[in-house]
Amino acid sequence: MLQKVVVTGGLGYIGSHVVVSLLLTGQYQPIVIDNCLNSYPEALNRCAEIARDEMGSDAPQPIYHNVDLRNAEAVEDAFAQYDNKGGIWAVIHLAALKAVGESGEIPLSYYKTNVAGSISLFESMERHGVNNLVFSSSATVYGTPEIVPIPETSPLLSASCYGRTKAMVEEIIQDLCRAQKKDGQSSLRAVSVRYFNPAGAHPSGKLGEEPRGKPGNLLPLLAQMAIGREKSQLKIFGTDFPTPDGTCVRDYLHIMDLAHGHVLALDALAVPTNQKNIFSNCDAENGPFRAFNLGKGKGMSVLNMIEAMRKATGYDYQYEIVDRRRGDVPDLTADPTLAEKELGFVAKKDLEEMCRDLWNFQTKNPHGFETPQKQTGTI
Ligand SMILES: NC(=O)c1ccc[n+]([C@@H]2O[C@H](COP(=O)([O-])OP(=O)(O)OC[C@H]3O[C@@H](n4cnc5c(N)ncnc54)[C@H](O)[C@@H]3O)[C@@H](O)[C@H]2O)c1
Repeated sequence: MLQKVVVTGGLGYIGSHVVVSLLLTGQYQPIVIDNCLNSYPEALNRCAEIARDEMGSDAPQPIYHNVDLRNAEAVEDAFAQYDNKGGIWAVIHLAALKAVGESGEIPLSYYKTNVAGSISLFESMERHGVNNLVFSSSATVYGTPEIVPIPETSPLLSASCYGRTKAMVEEIIQDLCRAQKKDGQSSLRAVSVRYFNPAGAHPSGKLGEEPRGKPGNLLPLLAQMAIGREKSQLKIFGTDFPTPDGTCVRDYLHIMDLAHGHVLALDALAVPTNQKNIFSNCDAENGPFRAFNLGKGKGMSVLNMIEAMRKATGYDYQYEIVDRRRGDVPDLTADPTLAEKELGFVAKKDLEEMCRDLWNFQTKNPHGFETPQKQTGTI
């Protein structure tokens, strides 16, 4: 029987690629909880289609619950539906608001969704005995790190409200992992995956980054400009950072590499407690909690990325240089060695492939998921 895995935010950019990766293992049944705030249900039709293309008509299909995480009762109702169907084995928690700039303008919305929404989810997990968690954290938790490439041991000193919500949820999870249950039940076992900058799309061109409104991330913005969908002026926020060309440096990794990292995290959680596993060396003080960077370990500047997308699309990007944004830090490049050693994670795909796959998705879906598409499956 397939292991049931709840994927919150499973319609979103990263979540939908995680859903595809789970389906393709043939081991996991993804159950998506999402309220479409920044995504479209069509993403799950595409996931199902990719699974059928690769595995045939018997491929597992995702299940969808249109639920807002801030509504604790609705979350509880969704979990309750699986109690007499073998229960839920694990949760991958991606649903969140994620824009650094916006988080400084509407902090309460960020705390309500990212922190309070997570607490509702953890309560339902506890009530239904779901003890395995993979949490979407972010490189922004490190703030302006002293050591680059950044090891997981760097202090969590985020410069933005968004980053602080992620660090707080990590703290909450750590406390849940430490908790000693009086009834002898096992406590939560959790892996926090700190993403660097995911980019690209599924190589089929059926699935990619399709946010509602103007993309907040650089690469989808560049793709939408090249296809003629985004007409605003490209802005570079600061060219006076202490980096080789003065623009911010980020560690881009292919979305399918990142998605695979979640399968590896689940596989690590599946190792029985009586065998050597990723928690074997955790002390009682910290409980079964581990954090891993998921990055490539290679920094790319904003100007490098514009040039890579020019090569992929042939589009001549014109840009304006403006002041730095609040909360932006010069260089977020991962030290990925711990994830490689303990999870077997390596971000193999290169920048050219990220840009090529992104452009393939954009040209096949010039208007995104809102255009009526031929529906070939159910979700
Ligand atoms: N994209 C990145 O560069 C990046 C980097 C580091 C960390 N992350 C984290 O990864 C996760 C996924 O990011 P993404 O890029 O896929 O973003 P996304 O916006 O594409 O996906 C987030 C999903 O969560 C859903 N959602 C938001 N609020 C919700 C609510 N109250 N209830 C239910 N669903 C809700 C949205 O509809 C969306 O489908 C987030 O936690 C984000 O903070 C993203």
